[in-house]
Amino acid sequence: MVAEMIVAHSILIKVFLAFLVGGMLIPMMTAKNPLGFRKASFIYTMTFQGIATMVAFTGLIAMVSGEMELSLSIILMIVIWALLMYIEIRKYKLIKMARLDNPETHTLLKGAFLKIGILQILLVAIMVVLMVLKAKGIVAL
Ligand code: HEM
Repeated sequence: MVAEMIVAHSILIKVFLAFLVGGMLIPMMTAKNPLGFRKASFIYTMTFQGIATMVAFTGLIAMVSGEMELSLSIILMIVIWALLMYIEIRKYKLIKMARLDNPETHTLLKGAFLKIGILQILLVAIMVVLMVLKAKGIVAL
């Protein structure tokens, strides 16, 4: 059970990373279409939250069924997870509320979408690298 959950957790994180990278295409593909940008952002945020929930679920099941202590690495994962969700929800709210028919606002939010995407990718990548280093015994987490 623990092993399966960690494998599922691990696969989901890679899926999540690929999704985040792919999501960067949204502001580029909807550069001249504010309504399309808003619609795509909605589908993006729902998928984002769905995958993130599955990541947390598999992680929590692994932790509970493996009777693991709340280690520094697990605390870090939970903090990063909460941060990712917080940033994503704030970003989508902004896009939902904004008057995207104003070209300046649209341009600003396209830029924000990309920058936030890069930040989210970095957060996930840092956690993956840390876990690889932990598995190799290079860092003690
Ligand atoms: C509520 C959220 C989360 C919980 C409870 C959780 C829990 C866990 C647990 C219990 C493990 C196994 C630990 C071990 O083998 O020492 C694990 C592994 C891992 N977690 Fe999480 N996790 C969460 C979110 C995340 C997030 C958001 C990321 C990425 C940003 C992440 C990345 C990883 C990685 C890379 C591994 C190593 C997987 C492997 O061995 O292949 N986790 N997690």
